[in-house]
Amino acid sequence: MNPVLAELHDKARAVLDPVHYDFFAGGAGDEVVLAENEAAFRRLALLPRVLRGKEDDAGFPVLISPTAFHRLAHPDGELATARALDGTVLVSSMAATVPIADVVAAATGPVWFQLYLQPGFDVTEALVRRAERAGCTALVVTVDSPVFGRHRRDIEHGFHELPAGLAAENMRDLAGAGGLRDIEMAPFTWDDIDRLRSITSLPVWLKGILHPADAVVAVEHEVAGVFVSNHGGRQLDLVPAAVDALPAVVDAVAGRIPVVLDGGVRSGGDVALAVALGASAAGIGRPVLWGLAADGSNGVRRVLDLLRDEFQHVVAMCGGRLSRDMVVVRC
Ligand SMILES: Cc1cc2nc3c(=O)[nH]c(=O)nc-3n(C[C@H](O)[C@H](O)[C@H](O)COP(=O)(O)O)c2cc1C
Repeated sequence: MNPVLAELHDKARAVLDPVHYDFFAGGAGDEVVLAENEAAFRRLALLPRVLRGKEDDAGFPVLISPTAFHRLAHPDGELATARALDGTVLVSSMAATVPIADVVAAATGPVWFQLYLQPGFDVTEALVRRAERAGCTALVVTVDSPVFGRHRRDIEHGFHELPAGLAAENMRDLAGAGGLRDIEMAPFTWDDIDRLRSITSLPVWLKGILHPADAVVAVEHEVAGVFVSNHGGRQLDLVPAAVDALPAVVDAVAGRIPVVLDGGVRSGGDVALAVALGASAAGIGRPVLWGLAADGSNGVRRVLDLLRDEFQHVVAMCGGRLSRDMVVVRC
């Protein structure tokens, strides 16, 4: 791991309550997928191209994937994350510990709202209205969670309640929702995605696509884009590493919608590999939590700066552009 990220991770582990550290760090089942997400990047290499003249502007194709309960990491919670954006998109979790309106007000970049469809459509609709009123510019519906993932570390610690004073603020006072941590997981269908799209003009993304056939259906249902994601190894502990599932989804959508990749991205080199394989951006989850826990906004900024600097360096080394033919598997 890059020494800056390693330092932030070590500091986060030192300052966090071990129960909360395990909530952030842990995965589902035997944590096979959790480990594979990172290991899969190490199996990939880039073949640079040479003599291609002036490089394109590499940009910074990274966004912050939605993670729950930032106030477990830092007293300022999602406000600290939002202040660090400097133009980067923050996908704010429905399970944020700061209301979405306050997150957007503090943000120095665009904020998208992640939600789980709720069994009561009135609850889902109320969440959408909150996101719209706050000024979010897209919705991200997480579709890989028909039931809760089984997180062994949380079960062993008996962690199923937030500490006093912390709540899933976006759920506060919603008709049909009984309590502040009352986010429900339930199995939905494509009709539910259509219904959601019919009540909002915001672009609707789907997060948690792994099967290329689902990516094709997503295009047919006119979603704005998809995240290839296994939820950072927190749902089904039998799926491939996220980056291994990426190329087939990219081929299936054939350029019709953008594809974001998240899971195991720990360096600008990982971002470059994802982009070379056809992702329009890479999402980061835990690295942001480590930066946040270690040093609030400054820590998140350091993570983003590190990835930006590394990514742009890799692109410059590769002749300015990245493409699938440049990715090889290590022997
Ligand atoms: C502590 C934690 C909480 C998360 N909460 C959410 C969530 O509320 N909604 C969601 O769609 N994904 C959630 N995720 C998944 C992330 O959006 C993302 O897919 C994952 O963290 C990417 O993997 P990485 O952590 O290896 O970068 C969570 C992940 C973690 C680690």
